[in-house]
Parts: sequence; C-alpha cells; structure tokens
Amino acid sequence: MRRIAVVTTGGDAPGMNATVRGLVRLASSKGFQVFGFRRGWEGLITSTFTPLTSRSVSGILQLGGTVLHTSRCPEFKTREGIRKAARTLTSRRVGGLVVIGGNGSFKGALELSKQTNASIVGIPASIDNDVFVTDETIGFDTAANTAVSEIDKIRDTAVSHERVFMIEVMGRERGFLALTVGLTVGAETILIPESKYQKTDIIKTIRENRIMGKRSGLIVAAEGIGDTHMLARQIQRNTKAEVRLSIIGYAQRGGSPTARSRLLASLFAEEAVELLSGAEGNRVVGLRDGVVGSISLQESCETEKELDPTLLRLAKLLAT
Ligand code: F6P
Repeated sequence: MRRIAVVTTGGDAPGMNATVRGLVRLASSKGFQVFGFRRGWEGLITSTFTPLTSRSVSGILQLGGTVLHTSRCPEFKTREGIRKAARTLTSRRVGGLVVIGGNGSFKGALELSKQTNASIVGIPASIDNDVFVTDETIGFDTAANTAVSEIDKIRDTAVSHERVFMIEVMGRERGFLALTVGLTVGAETILIPESKYQKTDIIKTIRENRIMGKRSGLIVAAEGIGDTHMLARQIQRNTKAEVRLSIIGYAQRGGSPTARSRLLASLFAEEAVELLSGAEGNRVVGLRDGVVGSISLQESCETEKELDPTLLRLAKLLAT
C-alpha cells in the first residue's frame, strides 16, 4: 500500500488541521503518497481530492476548522452513496483511508469498510468527546476552554446584576462538554441529556441560594436537554430571580486548537500511520489512561462511552 488518503467528516473540531499535518508528514516520511478528499464523504462520492505533501500542510497546525472542508452528507447514508465512495477508493488505488471525525463519521466508515478492501483508520476529533475508544477527542479541550472563557465573562455580568444565567453549550446527544464546562466554571446546576432533570429542583436551588444571600447563579445546559428558552422563562416565573439565557453556539467549534488538542492530533496521527504501515485497518485510535492505542471500528461504533463518575460526583459536591 503506497497510496493513502485522508478525509475530515461531520462537525469540524479544532485540531483537525494539526491532525492532517501530522498524518501527512509522518506518512510521507514512510514513503506513502497522501491525498486529501474534500468536503468530507462528499469528496469520496464525487472523487474530489488534492495531493498533500509535507510542504503543502505547512502553516495549518494552529488553524481552527479544516482546510479540507467538511459537510454533513446525506448521500453517504445511502447504499449507493457508499458504493460510489468505495469505487473512488478502488479507481484511485487508495490502499488506506484515515477518517478524522466523531462517532457519526465512524459509523459511516464502518459501512464503507464493508464495501472496500482499503484499510480504514479512524482518528477521533469532535468537540462532543463522545467516542468510546478515547478519554479525550481532538478539539474537546479547545471547545471546553472557549466555553469556559465565555462563561467567566458572563459570570461578571451575572454578579453585577444579581441575575441567574442559563448558558447553553453544544452537545445534542451527549453531555461531556456541559459536564466539564459546568464543573470548571462553578455552575450551581449542570443539565445534560443523559440525566432527567426536575424543574422543581432547579427552582428550589435558586430559592435556597437567594435565602442564603447568593443572588446570582450559573446553570450550564447541554443543547440536547430540550428548549432552554422555555426552561429559562419557567425558572424566572417560579423564582424571584431575573433569569437570562445565553447560547454560546458554534464559536465552540472554531478557534485555534489548544496545546492539548494539538498534542493529541500528533499522537493520534502517529498511531494511525503505524497501523497503516502494518496494513492494519478498520481500527479507531485513542488515548486511555495516558496510553495511545486502538480498537476495532466495529467495537468503537457499538460501544457507548460513559460519563466520568468522578466528574458527576464532583459536580454535585461543588454546586453549593
Ligand atoms: O460536532 C458536534 C456538534 O457540534 C454537536 O455538539 C452539535 O449538536 C452538532 O454538532 C451540530 O451540528 P451541525 O453542524 O450539523 O449543526
């Protein structure tokens, strides 16, 4: 296998470019020719690609987003779309494909692996941090830091006006980002899609805090918990507090990757190149307890990542 390709798919994450750079440089030094498919799976379906060399990936390490572009690609969810992508790999004589993305991307990669002989290796890059194989995905640390620095500013105005702020962070399906961010900004309440919340508990917390003299507050909610506009209104109606909603949104997906996200990008790129050098495919790389390794694509897709019980416990203990 002398030709490999790389694709960034699904929601972008800070550090995707650092991953592409690491991968191209490490693979080139081992004699691979590297191509980048453009716009995620769409690039495989339409055979739109660009040659990548150590020089062409110069200057992208610190850039947010993905220079290869990405997209949500409904056609790739169809049998014909996957067949077209597999045909591109064959006609372009691509022996290995590195998929940089999140859970949804790996599910797509698993379907593709059933239609191609190319070795597929997944590298987890997602602000959601919901990929089973790894304690942390590329981009998660950056997104968490973006949200924390925004919420620290919101806290200033919350304290000045003695208001309660509900801050919505990203995470449609999972609450990894909300939990880490909520804990690290000192939120009184953290709402995540994994746990059912009682409105009455939130109201009770705010009322009790006000009686104790704490007149401002922070509620961090993952977008996947439901309608935060309505929830904020209901809380205001049932407490004497002025409640405001602030949605941080897509800013969390952008920005220059932190040192941590860049480091993971390099470590994961090296592991992916090692796997492809040994012609090992259908794996997803990750970091567990400080050790870089990989598991099968199938296991990665079938296993749900658990929230860290230590973070859940601490979040409760510190919310006083
Ligand atoms: O990339 C992950 C994520 O940001 C989720 O947290 C969010 O729910 C989703 O992507 C938004 O996707 P889209 O870019 O399609 O709006």
